[in-house]
Amino acid sequence: MWFWLWPWFRSGLARHSLRRASVLDAGRMAAIHAEGFAIGWSREDFEQMILDRALADVLVSQAPFGHVVTGFAISRVAADECELLSIALDPEVRGLGLSPALLERHMGHAAQAGARTMFLEVADDNPAALALYRQAGFVEMGRRKGYYAAPGAARRDAVTMQADLGRFDPTPRFG
Ligand SMILES: CC(C)(COP(=O)(O)OP(=O)(O)OC[C@H]1O[C@@H](n2cnc3c(N)ncnc32)[C@H](O)[C@@H]1OP(=O)(O)O)[C@@H](O)C(=O)NCCC(=O)NCCS
Repeated sequence: MWFWLWPWFRSGLARHSLRRASVLDAGRMAAIHAEGFAIGWSREDFEQMILDRALADVLVSQAPFGHVVTGFAISRVAADECELLSIALDPEVRGLGLSPALLERHMGHAAQAGARTMFLEVADDNPAALALYRQAGFVEMGRRKGYYAAPGAARRDAVTMQADLGRFDPTPRFG
């Protein structure tokens, strides 16, 4: 994002909040996605997913000039199952312990949308994501050998994980 915001976010002065995503957030979501993954998704991809009723939440951080979207989680719910399609934070706010609250809120919204279980796939060499998921109650189900390919890098295994959403209140709410 803006590298000069790094000390501001690390100062502890910035406030952070969570809210549902709208199509207006698609550009920032695509920019954050591009920072986190070898193959990025475009703004149009995010717009279409949100219009197609994907479940999407964003992390919003206070910056000296206003507020900026600094993270997102996006999932698809089908019947009583939910697939976490992606979660990412802007590099400027990584390592601040903000991702568990984003994932927790997102899992709660999935439960309110009728999901009882959330599934995901994660590269086996992504310690921050693995720690985040384990802390949120995800357990490993299996592995897909050589599932992830990145230009110029060895293929990585995908770890498949699932979490029971039974601890979340399933009552639908606004916001
Ligand atoms: C995955 C991601 C959202 C985690 O957010 P983060 O800000 O880096 O992590 P946080 O500071 O919120 O910490 C979350 C947990 O991960 C741990 N963690 C963070 N970085 C770590 C690292 N490099 N190695 C091991 N554990 C790490 C933290 O200690 C914390 O666990 P704890 O509460 O049990 O101590 C973020 O790293 C990211 O956007 N990565 C790029 C996109 C991505 O890989 N998404 C997941 C795809 S499946």
